[in-house]
Amino acid sequence: MDSKDGASPFKTWREFIAEATELLGEAGVPSPRVDAELLAAHVTGLKRSQLLTAGAPTAGQAFVFVGLLERRGAREPLQHLTGAAPFRYGEIAVGPGVFVPRPETELLVDWALEHLPEGGVVIDACSGSGAIAHAIATERTDARVWAVEADPDAFEWMESNLEGTGAVPVLADAVAAGTLAELDGLVDLVVANPPYVPMDMEVAPEVDFDPSGAVYADEAGLAVIQPLALRAARWLAPGGWYGFEHDDTHGKAAPEILRVSGFTEVADHRDLAGRSRFATGRLGLSP
Ligand SMILES: C[S@@+](CC[C@H](N)C(=O)[O-])C[C@H]1O[C@@H](n2cnc3c(N)ncnc32)[C@H](O)[C@@H]1O
Repeated sequence: MDSKDGASPFKTWREFIAEATELLGEAGVPSPRVDAELLAAHVTGLKRSQLLTAGAPTAGQAFVFVGLLERRGAREPLQHLTGAAPFRYGEIAVGPGVFVPRPETELLVDWALEHLPEGGVVIDACSGSGAIAHAIATERTDARVWAVEADPDAFEWMESNLEGTGAVPVLADAVAAGTLAELDGLVDLVVANPPYVPMDMEVAPEVDFDPSGAVYADEAGLAVIQPLALRAARWLAPGGWYGFEHDDTHGKAAPEILRVSGFTEVADHRDLAGRSRFATGRLGLSP
C-alpha cells in the first residue's frame, strides 16, 4: 500500500505488533504479544496468522490501533476493547456494565453438561452476560434454560446475548424466594457463577472494570453463595444437581455450605492451575 491510500510508509503490521508487545509488557499486561495481535486482528479484520505477512496499516488503522493500545496499557480489559469475549464455542458481547466471562468458568459448563438429562430444565443463577446460559442453550438445544440476573445493566447485555438461543432472561434477585417460584421442585440443574471475591482481596487492574457487585461479596465472599445454595435446593427436583463457582479460598467452606443446605454427593473441583474452583452437589432423592 502506498501513502496515497492513507497507508503508513514506515512500518508493517509485524513491526507495529513487536513495538506494541513491548509497550503492553511494560504496562504489566500478562500476555502482551497475544493482546497486541488480537487488537491488530480486531482493527484489520484479519486473522492473527495473516498479520505476519500483512503490509503496513493504513493511517486510519494505525490511529485506531494506537488508541486501543493506550487503553489496554491502562489495563482496560481486552474484551471491552474488542467488544466480545470468546466463551466455549461462541462469542459473548461485553462492555462496561457487565462482567467479562472468564475461561475457567468453561469447566463449570463442562460439568453442567455432563449432569444435564435429556430435555432437562436448567437455571443459570447470577447469569451476568448470559455466558453460561448461552453455552448450555446452544450446546444442548434439548434443554430448557432460564437465566437470572439482578443488575439491570448486566441484564441488557444478557438479553441481547441470549436472543435466538431459546434461553429465557429473567431480571430478578436469584436468592429471593419468589424468583421463578413456579419452577420450585422441577429443575434438573442449577448452575451459578455468583460474586464471590472477599472484599479485601487484591485483584488484577482489569477486574476494576467489572461491576463491583459482580465480583465482590461480603462475609468473606460467601454472602451470595450461602443463600443461593438454599434457593437452588428449592428449585431442584429430587436427584437434581447444583454446581457453583467460588473463590480458591472457599475450598472447604463451599462444599460445607452444600452439605448443610441438604446436598449429597458433594465434591469440590480444581481448575487447570490446581486451584479449588467450583463445588457441586446433588439433592437427595428422598426428603
Ligand atoms: C461473577 S458474575 C458472573 C456472570 C456470568 N455468570 C459469568 O460466569 O460470566 C456474577 C453476576 O451475578 C449477578 N448477581 C449478584 N447477586 C445476584 C443476585 N442476588 N441475583 C441475581 N444476580 C446476581 C451480578 O450482577 C453479576 O452479573
